[in-house]
Amino acid sequence: MLKDTPILLGLTGGIAIYKSAELTRLLRREGAEVHCVMTRNARRFISPLLFEALAQNRVALDESESAHPFDHIRLSEKARLIVVAPATANLLGKFASGIADDLLTTMLTYGLGRPVPILLAPAMNASMYRNPAVQENLRRLKKWGVLTVGPDSGELACGDEGPGRMAEPEEILDRIKGIAHGLDLSGRTILVTAGPTREPLDPVRVLSNRSSGRMGYELARVAARRGARVTLISGPTQLPAPPGIDLVRIETAEELKKKTEELYSSAQVLVMAAAVADFRPRHSHPQKQKKSEQKAADRLLELTSTPDILKEISQKPRRGRILVGFAAESEKTIPHALAKLRAKNLDLIVANDISRPGSGFEVSTNQVYLISPPDKVEELPLLSKEEVAERILDRVVKILQPRHARKT
Ligand code: CTP
Repeated sequence: MLKDTPILLGLTGGIAIYKSAELTRLLRREGAEVHCVMTRNARRFISPLLFEALAQNRVALDESESAHPFDHIRLSEKARLIVVAPATANLLGKFASGIADDLLTTMLTYGLGRPVPILLAPAMNASMYRNPAVQENLRRLKKWGVLTVGPDSGELACGDEGPGRMAEPEEILDRIKGIAHGLDLSGRTILVTAGPTREPLDPVRVLSNRSSGRMGYELARVAARRGARVTLISGPTQLPAPPGIDLVRIETAEELKKKTEELYSSAQVLVMAAAVADFRPRHSHPQKQKKSEQKAADRLLELTSTPDILKEISQKPRRGRILVGFAAESEKTIPHALAKLRAKNLDLIVANDISRPGSGFEVSTNQVYLISPPDKVEELPLLSKEEVAERILDRVVKILQPRHARKT
């Protein structure tokens, strides 16, 4: 998505600059064309050589040392996005006051006069961050349309605790991708379910499945960076919470049903990526079942059905809401998925054949079919789950558009 996108990365003199090296690497991995600009103080922390090697581009330095006197115009003009990470209190102060006394602030001042998004990742000591002048500068810059990411709260390099820690490189990258994509889900509320459910037999044993939750987590993460307000209802997974979303944890299909129904009323889109157990033990014992209590060597487990959450929701008044389901199949993928699309009255079903290599559970890639009513099937190639999430959300964006706009 960032392939060949020219990004101007401003680096100022804050300790968090070490994270900017990783950010440069991540941007390059995404195919972005990165042009770094370092202030004099930034160079006291790290040599430009590191950024030159990572970005594979010459690092622009202050005018006096630069080979091109018009670097600020040339580079600002070329950039599709200007990022400053770390943005120190000093940089915020100068930028908010229109001071342009070095190459970076000159570029920013020039950039603000053009329709290029500017993203700042503030980083400083907690007391400095709380300083009313810094807060006022941030407010002012935001009022002018400058975007910010972070800062996070936590342990700071100086040993203090509090707000001021620069956002992690992955979070900054996500924001950059969102900006590059145009925030086409901004103002939308999306509810995503993910992961397996766990149905207890007793306090120790459960019935569950092999879902890792990755597909749903990617959907939540990508939807948030495209501007949506996202709530993720998740079964037990090993995954970290994606930044900027509300995470609700559940265990059983019953709990998932309760939470989904509760949150569905305030959502415009429900993406049901959870691998819901279809059955649960008829009896869940409050105490651990002892094997000595078993009379026969073979023991029968009595099961009962769990509610089909998506089906029940699809039978309620829809009021313009969009329902997206998943179908994990091991044979006859398309006919089975089509049957589910109709039975659950969905706007879109994402079907995959879990027996194919690189598809389905516990892998980071997926090969899916996007199937929409009445029987339109699009086969996607093998993609990363992040890319699959992008494609699914592209469809959601299209469905959300009013009918007449879709035709034109
Ligand atoms: N689903 C649900 N509640 C269930 C089971 C499934 O809401 N009790 C949802 C899933 O989250 C998915 C879709 O329904 O979006 C299809 O799930 P899947 O397990 O593929 O199909 P089932 O309807 O359970 O049918 P089967 O297991 O027989 O293939």
